[in-house]
Amino acid sequence: MTGGFMSHSDSQIREIMEKLTLEEKCSLLSGSDFWHSQPVERLDIPAVMVSDGPHGLRKQDVEHSTGVNDSIQAVCFPAACATSASFDRKSYARLGSVLGDECQAQGVSTLLGPAINIKRSPLCGRNFEYISEDPYLAGELSATYINAVQEKHVGTSLKHFALNDQEYRRLTNSSDCDERTMREIYLKGFEIAVRKSQPATIMHSYNLINGTYAGENPWLISDVLRKEWGFKGLVMSDWGAVSDRIAGVKAGTDLEMPSSDGINDAKVLKAAKNDPELVKKIDECVFRILRWIYDFEDNRQQGEFDIEKHHKIAREIEEESIVLLKNDGILPLDPATAGKIAVIGEFAKKPRFQGGGSSHINTKTVSNAFDSLEAYGLKLSYAKGFSAEPPKDKDLLAKETVALADEAMKVASGCDTILVFAGLPDSFESEGYDRKHMDLPEEQNELIKKLCATGKKVVVILHNGSPVTMPWVKDVNAILELYLGGEAVGEAAANVLTGRVNPSGKLAETFPLRLEDTPSFLNFANDKKHTVYTEGVFVGYRWYDARKMDVLFPFGFGLSYTSFEYSNLRLSKSSISDGEKLTATVTVSNTGKIDGKEIVQLYVSDKTESTVRPKIELKGFDKVFVPAGKSVDVSFELDKSSFAWYSTDLQDWYAASGEYEIKVGPSSRDLPLSAPVAFTTSVKLPLEITLDTTCGDLLKDERTKGILNKVFEATTSEIENGGANADEAITEEMKINMMDAHPLRNVISWSHLSEELAEKMMADLRRAVEK
Ligand code: BGC
Repeated sequence: MTGGFMSHSDSQIREIMEKLTLEEKCSLLSGSDFWHSQPVERLDIPAVMVSDGPHGLRKQDVEHSTGVNDSIQAVCFPAACATSASFDRKSYARLGSVLGDECQAQGVSTLLGPAINIKRSPLCGRNFEYISEDPYLAGELSATYINAVQEKHVGTSLKHFALNDQEYRRLTNSSDCDERTMREIYLKGFEIAVRKSQPATIMHSYNLINGTYAGENPWLISDVLRKEWGFKGLVMSDWGAVSDRIAGVKAGTDLEMPSSDGINDAKVLKAAKNDPELVKKIDECVFRILRWIYDFEDNRQQGEFDIEKHHKIAREIEEESIVLLKNDGILPLDPATAGKIAVIGEFAKKPRFQGGGSSHINTKTVSNAFDSLEAYGLKLSYAKGFSAEPPKDKDLLAKETVALADEAMKVASGCDTILVFAGLPDSFESEGYDRKHMDLPEEQNELIKKLCATGKKVVVILHNGSPVTMPWVKDVNAILELYLGGEAVGEAAANVLTGRVNPSGKLAETFPLRLEDTPSFLNFANDKKHTVYTEGVFVGYRWYDARKMDVLFPFGFGLSYTSFEYSNLRLSKSSISDGEKLTATVTVSNTGKIDGKEIVQLYVSDKTESTVRPKIELKGFDKVFVPAGKSVDVSFELDKSSFAWYSTDLQDWYAASGEYEIKVGPSSRDLPLSAPVAFTTSVKLPLEITLDTTCGDLLKDERTKGILNKVFEATTSEIENGGANADEAITEEMKINMMDAHPLRNVISWSHLSEELAEKMMADLRRAVEK
């Protein structure tokens, strides 16, 4: 997008900048209202409009509008919680392309999405808008979406950069996290998306990171994002995220949104009068703002906004995303054997298809599963069972619960199969606050248990933006996860329930058994000022795997109406090194009777023990169509990034020499195929030589091992004998282990090294690691 087709050239933009006064430049640093940039009429610099996405166009016409529901009528596509479960780059490309068209048709320069914060806890109120607990998946899918939107010459705003992983006090809370964890988990998705798709803009988050506001953090915005990753676009603030605008400009945040009514611009102007460095920074910001404005303005297109056509696409994307979590054979419903069907739960007629807050879309049509199933000729009886949004008043709720449950049991008693449309009420998950627990409303769980006790077949169909507990999981016959499936969710659900569509979604997040099992349980949204990311890189499946914990449903899990078999994993070579690529190919066979799509996943396991690492990490995925009885080959390309971890000592990614394992299969907990691969690197981790450097570190390192051994050979070392008080009972293995932790200062004293020899040893060691 940046430097895009037919745009003003960079030198033309510089010419315009020469004509701008410093005051005009400062005026460009913030929006003119809630949704527009600032124009400069004197020089015909236009204002451009931005609008929320990410799963539909929320164009608000009202100036200074803060009402979330007063946008134009548009199509609500499935929210990211759903689309991510498609694991389908094609669906993301389709979604991006359609939204790009809609933006062009509506004169919207930039769609405020995608949102890719990591699902650190299932409780985060905005998880429904985010893609995954896995940064590779989030990065890959968002890059595809960004490229597709931007092909239409509409910008995107990758958000919320970064570590905005809870809603609790999101404007003032500091996410305190070590650098390695940031790089591998919380920044990785952004890095992938920036490198692969160069979003036109990035929206910085509200929160502080290790005590500094995200948008005022030069390390994050200038060093990592721009210098390291090569981001060329504009950085804008989240709405109202600015604390100190001058610090923001200095850090490289170009645009404050929405308007500050000129207040912050005036502050910047005043400060710039005595600060030439700040003037330079302002110029950099203004250049990027104008680049962004003209990239859109110079490439205006007609754009298509056909609500009916796009509704159909919303259905097709949801059909790729629905996850079949359990099925004892009851699904797909067979009209011949299903008998009379009871449809229970208000969500059947009033589906929850999107979340609350800034992503809320004003829709024209919403389909519901009851009407869609009836249209297919199924004989249905209906009972509300429970309200989609339960009454707040406890007495009212208690009365309603009894009455609705009684009615539901009556309806169910006259039927053979029961479909329960359950889910989270709107008020349970939304932007602005987090969930307090992972449970469905009690009245829903109680009713499902009662319905199971009838002995009839029970299918639960879920509408939720994040994982829920399922106390009835063993008792029901099937579970279908719709997530927040967009405005066509009813048709999509009916198509999957009746087998017109074979389900092919898989979970992009772990469903834990209990909240207490989750990695951030003790450190999530419970401190007013700081949230400490104590679990480090062990987020999502990385945590549950490391702790060998059972989960309700694992990351990457999802069933189909057909069955697949994996065979013949082969690698293009058995070893690779920095800069090389490797192809892994696997054969996937559809061994069932109907066509289906399978999401094939590739994970890498590090056996080198170079540092503490997750057991497996996702490094490749693909969704493939396999006709019944046929096989297809699926290939993945791997390179250093598939094996590396982030070394803060090196300040770079590092893959140690040694053995790794490639694992392939249908889910993170079902990886039937594996193959070893060797990685070789000439990169050495820095080793600082001080009196505190340990024998263990020195003996493990080829550069220093010989020097230390020579010292041992030349002296009668007590350390070698297991320390000052060693006795006969100390075994060889114990000696090695004890030596491991001893620092050089002990080598010097216990080996009785003279001052001269000690200095020589230190100098030799330093020279060896400098080479
Ligand atoms: C949200 C952003 C959104 C912006 C504009 C903020 O509250 O965090 O995601 O794009 O509002 O609506």
